[in-house]
Amino acid sequence: MTKDKKDAPDKTILKKQVILVVDDEEAIRNLLKQILEKEGYECELAGDVEEATAFLSKKRFDLVVSDVSMPGKSGIQLLEEIRDRYPNMATLLISGQATNKTAEDAISKGAIDFLVKPFQKDQVLISVANCLRRRAMDLQSQFEVQNLECIINDQTQDLLEANERLNSILNSTVKAMSLAVESRDPYTAGHQERVANIAEAIAKKMDFNDEEIQYLKMAALIHDIGKISVPAEILCKPTRLSEAEFNIIKEHPTTGYKILKGIDFPYPLAKMVYQHHERIDGSGYPQGLSGDQILIEAKILSVADVVEAMASHRPYRSSLGIDVALDEIIKNKGQIFDPEVVEICCYLFRNNELTLN
Ligand SMILES: [Fe+2]
Repeated sequence: MTKDKKDAPDKTILKKQVILVVDDEEAIRNLLKQILEKEGYECELAGDVEEATAFLSKKRFDLVVSDVSMPGKSGIQLLEEIRDRYPNMATLLISGQATNKTAEDAISKGAIDFLVKPFQKDQVLISVANCLRRRAMDLQSQFEVQNLECIINDQTQDLLEANERLNSILNSTVKAMSLAVESRDPYTAGHQERVANIAEAIAKKMDFNDEEIQYLKMAALIHDIGKISVPAEILCKPTRLSEAEFNIIKEHPTTGYKILKGIDFPYPLAKMVYQHHERIDGSGYPQGLSGDQILIEAKILSVADVVEAMASHRPYRSSLGIDVALDEIIKNKGQIFDPEVVEICCYLFRNNELTLN
């Protein structure tokens, strides 16, 4: 498409230039025709604006040379019609009245040049050549702008498609990482995906934008990635964990952070994962952060994580149910969980805008 357009101006230049002469005086029309045809231009003659518009609708012209004062519509009115219907047409007006007002009118309505009768042959030829050169330059620059727009559009489309492919690869990779962690602990299969769904719903209510939500979901899908270094017998243990075993489990946010910190995500995913067991009163782990030291994304993850975990079956207990889970976060609202996140989470479940599948 770009290549075809590139050929367009050359074809125009190679064709014989066609000029429409409009004048109510036959002698002037014929004189202009004689001058122009001798110079190699092709010429058509019209005695008034009506005849001129009929010619214009039937044939392609490069230039219209028109008288200003004619019976019926004037040359200025013809200019207006040409400007509206044939914006690429060059126009040259010729008048017997050399007033500034007429010349200004003509130029403001789009005429490229203005000649005063009686004219010299050379004056006409120079003016016609100038008008045609100016038209060719305008067409060339229009073509270049269009060509540039085509190139930019093509490249933008290519970039968008490449970006979409990369995004899809990133999402699939994160999902694969999520499955890899959960494959070591069949009892928590689907946990991270359900946490991601809860986090997404909360973030939407908190007016996160689409990209922020996309990366929060990614963090949720791999928030327990650090458990990859926890021995399977501890992960799957059907009875309560010893203190030593629990200390090993508590390492997983740090391990997750170390795994992810080298990846240059546009959002701090590694930190979201690092902080998902932090509590706003500083009682969480591994860093004991509190209040504003904890990312809002991590505060959302911690609520979503607890609600999902309590409402799901575990090797050492059956599901406690969503109501018990919500009671737990309400009990700790403002103390260990962010109050706004708790409010939104409860609202979503209690109004059936969110369910655990
Ligand atoms: Fe965790």
